[in-house]
Amino acid sequence: MRGNETFFLLFGLCGFMFGLLTWTYDNLEYKGYPRNSSCTGDCYVQYVKDNGTPAEIEMRKQAAAATDPFSSIKGLWSGCAACHGQKGEGMGVFPKLAGQSAESIIEKLTVYKNRGEVGNMSSTMWAQAGQLSESDINTLGEFIQETMND
Ligand code: HEC
Repeated sequence: MRGNETFFLLFGLCGFMFGLLTWTYDNLEYKGYPRNSSCTGDCYVQYVKDNGTPAEIEMRKQAAAATDPFSSIKGLWSGCAACHGQKGEGMGVFPKLAGQSAESIIEKLTVYKNRGEVGNMSSTMWAQAGQLSESDINTLGEFIQETMND
């Protein structure tokens, strides 16, 4: 009789431990990833099938950034866009940049960087261009020519 009780006790304990481990493992499994809590099990398997693992998604993003020749000035451009427009379309006193050649943009930015005059509002651009490196200026010129040729 006593032996039987011990057996059931151990059996129950094992079941409990198994449950605990499974639960812990389930919760550990995807740890470290921003996971949608409603997407586990089959849903997560499907997600990985469609999108790759989180590590693969991250690698794809990095690869895309590496092949974007303008990634270095994208942040910078958002400042320029405040005046010149997102697509360089210009507005009011802010000249249109779209359609200009890289050469022309680079030339004017270099003039501004050296506090020279292009138009009668050149001083507005001095502070802007003063902070740009030569490589920024070249990349901005290419970026405007390549992506805003309208
Ligand atoms: C505060 C508003 C403002 C911001 C921000 C600004 N610009 Fe300008 N930009 C102007 C104004 C005003 C002019 C006209 C200056 C003049 O009369 O020479 C101008 C002129 C220019 C010109 C010469 C255009 C032409 O055809 O004469 C270029 C190129 C240019 N900006 C590029 C940039 C770039 C690149 C940035 C971001 C690094 C930038 N600008 C940020 C206001 C701004």
